[in-house]
Amino acid sequence: MLPGIEPRPPAIPDLRPDQAGVATHPARFKVVACGRRWGKTTLGLYLAAEAMRRGRRVWWVAPTYNMAFEPWLALKQAFEGADGLVKQEAARYLALPDGGSISIKSADAPDRLRGVGLDLVIVDEAAFISQYVWQAVLRPALADRRGRALMISTPRGRNWFYHAFQRGLDPLAHDWEAWRAPTSANGLIAPEEIADVRALTPERIFRQEYEAEFLEDGGEVFRGVRRAATAPVDAAPQPGHRYVAGIDWGRANDFTAVAILDATRMALVALDRFSGDEWALQRARIAALLRGWGVSLALAEENAMGGPNIEALQREGLPVRPFSMTALSKPPLIESLVLGIECGDLRLLPDEVLLGELESYTYQTLPSGRNRYGAPPGLHDDTVIALALAWKLAGTPAFTLSMAEV
Ligand SMILES: Nc1ncnc2c1ncn2[C@@H]1O[C@H](COP(=O)(O)OP(=O)(O)OP(=O)(O)O)[C@@H](O)[C@H]1O
Ligand SMILES: [Mg+2]
Repeated sequence: MLPGIEPRPPAIPDLRPDQAGVATHPARFKVVACGRRWGKTTLGLYLAAEAMRRGRRVWWVAPTYNMAFEPWLALKQAFEGADGLVKQEAARYLALPDGGSISIKSADAPDRLRGVGLDLVIVDEAAFISQYVWQAVLRPALADRRGRALMISTPRGRNWFYHAFQRGLDPLAHDWEAWRAPTSANGLIAPEEIADVRALTPERIFRQEYEAEFLEDGGEVFRGVRRAATAPVDAAPQPGHRYVAGIDWGRANDFTAVAILDATRMALVALDRFSGDEWALQRARIAALLRGWGVSLALAEENAMGGPNIEALQREGLPVRPFSMTALSKPPLIESLVLGIECGDLRLLPDEVLLGELESYTYQTLPSGRNRYGAPPGLHDDTVIALALAWKLAGTPAFTLSMAEV
């Protein structure tokens, strides 16, 4: 080795005692719910590599192909130079001459997951994999060789992974065992680091992602709404302040809402909500508001009638940008607003419609693991969306935890 050059760290480190406790436990089905960065993937890699060395046939299953990339690199590195190693890069497959093998699979293509008897399956981020993949594809593949499974994940509401976890806790389910551990159990992560994340993360999300709690579905989303309602109701445009706006277009039986934020003071200064008018009249009302406040930038939902309305406002010289609301773009938009309100970074107007919509706003965790946010049936969320869009422009905090971004 060259002087001064550290040896390359092993591709798969030795396990900590708590990880080793899971690894050596005799249960056939192991369910491990842990916080982010606990060392889930590391534990899975260790078990997978060890099983392959002992001649076992192993699958590594991740929710998406991309999420299996780092594990694939680590496994290749771990077996680099092994005698008689077969490596198929395209199939992400490694095999040793005595029959031990590892295949990397992604659960978003379940039809490619069929057809072999397995000794071990590692399901990384299992809560993000559909129940169908576990029940109809992976579990049967373990039947003929009495294979084992490690399901390891941060929780995602109370989906199938939660039920698997409960099974692991059941003393009568002898084949099953469950563990739960927070991020802080990874001693390599400094407590200050976790404290810092906590200050920047909505509490509900911290509890799920870092404390590995299985939160009930349909819970409240925004906390501390009334406490945040301290913005003056008689604000007027101030010279030198930057104003931004968010626009949510009304559909049938719904309202168009416009929220204007003072991005210098981080306070909501105006909220308008109207329905029933012609689009041209609605646009005129929006244009007057934006001009009246000297709004430097507005973000408007572009779905459906949004696109043509945005173009019409742009033709009038107004600084309006489109935002495409999708299942992927909505969670980070909402979660950033949750944080702004919870941490007291954003002051709201004491507007009962807005406060009511924020307080009743809810979410559901989908089988995919993603959160779906919205108003409960029969209620509106147009002021919430307008506010969230304005807040995105006003200064989004450094919150990027949503799985949408993984
Ligand atoms: N036993 C160990 N020894 C040394 N380092 C470890 C050990 N376990 C985990 N780590 C390190 O801790 C960090 C997080 O580990 P890992 O990626 O396995 O966690 P994870 O729970 O899968 O994280 P994520 O939530 O991001 O998927 C990595 O840098 C990893 O190398
Ligand atoms: Mg991981």
